[in-house]
Amino acid sequence: MSKTIIILGIESSCDDTAAAIIKNGQLLTNIVATQNVHKAYGGVVPELASRAHQQNIIPVVDQALKQAGVKKSEISAVAFTRGPGLMGSLLVGTSFAKGFALGLDIPLIEVNHMQGHILAHFIRDSSSHNENIETVPSFPFLCLTVSGGHTQIVLVNDFFDMTIIGETIDDAAGEAFDKAAKIMGLPYPGGPLIDKYAKEGNPKAFTFSKPQVPELNYSFSGLKTGFMNFINNERAKNPDFIEQHKADICASIQYTIIEILMNKLKLAAKQNSITQIAIAGGVSANSGLRNTLHELSKQLGWQIFIPKFEYCTDNAAMIAITGYYKYLKQDFTTQGTAPLPRYALNS
Ligand code: KG4
Ligand code: ZN
Repeated sequence: MSKTIIILGIESSCDDTAAAIIKNGQLLTNIVATQNVHKAYGGVVPELASRAHQQNIIPVVDQALKQAGVKKSEISAVAFTRGPGLMGSLLVGTSFAKGFALGLDIPLIEVNHMQGHILAHFIRDSSSHNENIETVPSFPFLCLTVSGGHTQIVLVNDFFDMTIIGETIDDAAGEAFDKAAKIMGLPYPGGPLIDKYAKEGNPKAFTFSKPQVPELNYSFSGLKTGFMNFINNERAKNPDFIEQHKADICASIQYTIIEILMNKLKLAAKQNSITQIAIAGGVSANSGLRNTLHELSKQLGWQIFIPKFEYCTDNAAMIAITGYYKYLKQDFTTQGTAPLPRYALNS
């Protein structure tokens, strides 16, 4: 009988402390402790994030083990996010993983967070045998990775062969959502709130100019400035403008961000003659983006892959599944490893 492989995944790159357990490629448990402390500051405060990770990491891992019914002695290897992310946050997960691996004398696996977001498509959970569940993408496919820190179009040739063919030259798509929300006076993180209000609004109510960026790259900083000027002008005329038009404003800015994202994704698909299209990262939880992809799949014959909500935003299941594939390759790291706040996808 082949050996049972149990991977403990740890994620702590930004403001979510997470642990997950995967047994022979099947997810047993996925625990995320989201830090609410940042809401009062309108964004993630790095020092507060690392302190909260320190408090959360042991309870989160403990809960994951209990829920999975797995003993520490049964774990084959521990996989952790090495980067990219906030240094203080990454240090907590990295140090924990190193200590855990050393104490149990098991292999240590480092994972690139962005690769994890993409490989989230390969997570198999208890509902994966459902007939309605989409199958996993086959190689090569394109993945639009859209999060709070990144916006990339990635050509995925294999689990470990990924090339960024387009990316943002300034702000990320998630940042565009969050900054627009902040300008409207909505709390952090504003992306999910824009999504919520947009459902009741008219996406064509207001128009915003789109960036002209060459090739497959993106830019969102001009949109933010244009949006701020628009809001300031309207509020000068009517102080209650935001309150009176909240849904239309949210629907319009969301529509514009999605249009910008889709225009380059369509170009990338055409240039590479690829019709298997995936999305990943926190912004892929956006319902407008998900609906648009469904429409494009009908129009352009794309086969689309959209992760479940819980695997879009930061989680440790994506780190554990990447760790699992690295384990199969026996791709381990050493106790000398250190976090990499900037970590290129294919390095
Ligand atoms: O991947 P993620 O959880 O963390 C990073 O690695 O950055 O992404 C977080 C980002 C935030 O900018 C958040 O506002 C955005 O994802 N986000 C959304 C939605 N859910 C999360 N943006 C738009 N609509 C959503 N439903
Ligand atoms: Zn992320």
